[in-house]
Amino acid sequence: MAVILDGISNEDKIALEKLVKKQSKPGMVVIELGSYTGKSSISMLPVIAQNNGRLYCVDWFKGMPCSTEDIQWSYKEHNILDIFLNRIKDEGYEKNTITLIGRTDEVCDVIGDNVADLIFIDADHRYENVRKDILKWYPKLKNNGVLCGHDYLKHLKDCNYLRALELCEENVDMMFGEPHHYGVIRSISEFFPDVKFESSIWHIEKTDSHPLLELSLKLASTAAEHNKTFSQSRGVSIVNQSSDPLQQKRHEELNEHIHQLLENEKYSEMVVTSIGSILWNVQLTTMALELLQTALSKTNGSDNSMTLTLYAVLLFKAGNVSLSIECFEKLNRLRPDDPVILNKLGELYYSIGKKEQAEIIFKKTFSLALNYYFPELLNNLGVLYWEAGKKELALKAIIDGMNMTKGTHVNIVLNYSDMLQSQKKADIALSLLERHYALSKDSRIMAGIKQLKDKGHGMVK
Ligand SMILES: C[S@@+](CC[C@H](N)C(=O)[O-])C[C@H]1O[C@@H](n2cnc3c(N)ncnc32)[C@H](O)[C@@H]1O
Repeated sequence: MAVILDGISNEDKIALEKLVKKQSKPGMVVIELGSYTGKSSISMLPVIAQNNGRLYCVDWFKGMPCSTEDIQWSYKEHNILDIFLNRIKDEGYEKNTITLIGRTDEVCDVIGDNVADLIFIDADHRYENVRKDILKWYPKLKNNGVLCGHDYLKHLKDCNYLRALELCEENVDMMFGEPHHYGVIRSISEFFPDVKFESSIWHIEKTDSHPLLELSLKLASTAAEHNKTFSQSRGVSIVNQSSDPLQQKRHEELNEHIHQLLENEKYSEMVVTSIGSILWNVQLTTMALELLQTALSKTNGSDNSMTLTLYAVLLFKAGNVSLSIECFEKLNRLRPDDPVILNKLGELYYSIGKKEQAEIIFKKTFSLALNYYFPELLNNLGVLYWEAGKKELALKAIIDGMNMTKGTHVNIVLNYSDMLQSQKKADIALSLLERHYALSKDSRIMAGIKQLKDKGHGMVK
């Protein structure tokens, strides 16, 4: 039976208690997003109860989607909601606790604005979802409220930025075996570049100015307002191509606002890349690319590798592969020992059919990445070897990748399943996929299962 994890660490508990104490006042209101078995709730409740206040615990009590981590197993094997409710009761905090069972983005709609003294975020850790939680819950804070959350151990600028972008793109917060929650780190750093953190608890105060969050809130409401005219697909600029004079005017105002902000912040890399991401997130693609290009020209000569990284990634997504390759080549010259950049370059050459060049690059990456956690590289090597008919080498790379990730990496699992099928081991492939799906609910894994079942595998004979 799976072990039930114990929530936040004792150091985090101390940091969280300090924030709650700072906000302490009679009748205080605290909201927690993500309560699990209640360890973080219990660490805030003594102060809340002393003040005759309320803690609203929001959790759908179904675990973390797209995660194959231990929390998912504990939800499968235990009644976490019961454990949570009993813990609150046993500790004597029933009258101070209101449990709201549901998804954070839905529960949000039944809570009024300007009501909370503190909001603690520890629910879905994926980039888009943390962003959504912040955009939706920030207005619920009183003007002197504190917004805080869990799992922030490093600023984004101190992480491998490309790795963070890639994992967020894969809709993954943290890869098994990797030390950072990139979904949390990226979203928080982008909204609050100067965020403070103690242990792994980040926090900001609503009284301070947060221009990047304000920009995002403004764009989010414009997006909602003009939902119908917004393109659903990334890679298309919605406002730039609009002939609607009102939208064009908004576009000009937005541009002016952003350039003012950039001048004020002296083109700091974190601010430039945050705005680039924010624009990309609302599909203002052309504007994002233009902004990054301008920033690169203004900071030419200094180390602007974060800006260049985002520019290269967005160019690729917008379909300009050759310019993206040029940028990654440049990045590789700036950071010759970074296996993540080199691996990306290999993938890009592979994508345009230059497989020999890709293989040379992957092999070089492999020698650089010996002491590095890098399952994607093993996956890439596996695919290349497989295509070249080097089946033993391919299987070795993929099985090493499976071991490194304990079978949690979607692409590696899918490729391993293909290899097993071609070795006439489709039933093993099916149980591999089913085991993964039970936790991850990943749609690509489901498609693989369906394909095998359509071929008659897994049927009782
Ligand atoms: C990391 S745990 C919270 C741990 C808890 N704060 C503690 O330290 O004791 C995350 C919790 O968020 C919940 N959760 C994840 N995504 C959610 C969502 N979109 N809406 C509501 N709850 C969610 C999960 O069910 C899980 O119980």
